[in-house]
Amino acid sequence: MSDDERTFVMVKPDGVQRGLIGEIVSRFEDRGLKLVGGKFMQIDDDLAHEHYGEHEDKPFFDGLVEFITSGPVFAMVWEGADATRQVRSMVGETDPAESAPGTIRGDFGLDLGRNVIHASDHEDEGANEREIDLFFDEDELLDYERIDAAWLYE
Ligand code: RTP
Ligand code: MG
Repeated sequence: MSDDERTFVMVKPDGVQRGLIGEIVSRFEDRGLKLVGGKFMQIDDDLAHEHYGEHEDKPFFDGLVEFITSGPVFAMVWEGADATRQVRSMVGETDPAESAPGTIRGDFGLDLGRNVIHASDHEDEGANEREIDLFFDEDELLDYERIDAAWLYE
């Protein structure tokens, strides 16, 4: 298994407003994942429609676009072995009410429409690469070694 898989993660406007950026970044750092890109930004309407295009026909789509464009988000790219699936398991279920304690949504949310964080779906083939390309230019992703890499992987 490759240790250089990259995945896209974003603290949503509710997570930013609630001061959870640091806590969320710490969880991925502590796990041993490597931060290779980060951008504090506000999503515009076009980017929101592209990012959530798969949900265009759903009744919650307009509310979702309004929410995700309502304030700053913190977009990130994390790298590591099996990164997409491992991050999703740390995030929890879509609905915080169904998410186990210990997961990010299970620890910090109560409501489906305010679920704190987005992460690429490991069941949607290529979603991680697509979302990274949507939010980051290649030169915004940095190539470096974590000093503890030899202690994180056998
Ligand atoms: P996300 O894309 O935001 O990481 O969340 P997810 O994969 O766990 O869930 P997804 O099915 O992609 O849904 C995207 C976001 O839409 C909102 N949602 N509302 N009212 C509803 O039935 C409903 N279903 C989904 C959630 O905020 C979800 O994160
Ligand atoms: Mg999704």
